[in-house]
Amino acid sequence: MRLPRGSQLVVASHNAGKVREIKALLGPHGIEPISAGSLGLPEPEETGLTFAANAQIKAQASAKASGHAALADDSGLCVDALDGAPGVYSARWAGPTKDFRVGMNRIHDELRHKGLSTSAAKFVCALCIALPSGEAQTFEGEAHGRLTFPPRGDHGFGFDPIFVANGMEQTFAEIDPAQKHAMSHRAKAFEKLLHSGIFTESL
Ligand code: IMP
Repeated sequence: MRLPRGSQLVVASHNAGKVREIKALLGPHGIEPISAGSLGLPEPEETGLTFAANAQIKAQASAKASGHAALADDSGLCVDALDGAPGVYSARWAGPTKDFRVGMNRIHDELRHKGLSTSAAKFVCALCIALPSGEAQTFEGEAHGRLTFPPRGDHGFGFDPIFVANGMEQTFAEIDPAQKHAMSHRAKAFEKLLHSGIFTESL
């Protein structure tokens, strides 16, 4: 699979935080991102049991519907003491109003029920790039750390205010967005995508 510089790429996500981060990652590579929202693309049901399966469902649906290459991100927070939950259900833990304070409180409550105040955790990101033909490639990245309560910081999105990466003191929501982009699960998956050579100078 090859995408020459100047190609248009649909960012197959309706999550504003993710779209912002993916556009920042794509910026230096001469690829023109188009958001799925601006094309009115529907959000397919995420029926997969893994991040990779869900990323592929979203990328293939957007590529087929738009006729352009599409990049989808499926990601989430896996908490060790909760046997990897919320995992692929991370977005759903924020409830129907998509309020991540609800999701962060639920994690805190479930840890307290186990007599814990924190846990090791990791963010996982699967990025899938798909062509209208259905051809698809997926790349995964992880960021390891621990949880902290109460939530701290206003940057980022989702569960960033309770996640402190290994070797850091500040949460992902307290550090500068550029610093998160240099070390996040999404950045690591994106680095693998870049190393695959999909983005080329020319055809
Ligand atoms: P998805 O749209 O089903 O992949 O949902 C991913 C969910 O995982 C998001 O809505 C967030 O709750 C969480 N998540 C994924 N990546 C991040 C991140 O970089 N920071 C904080 N939360 C994240």
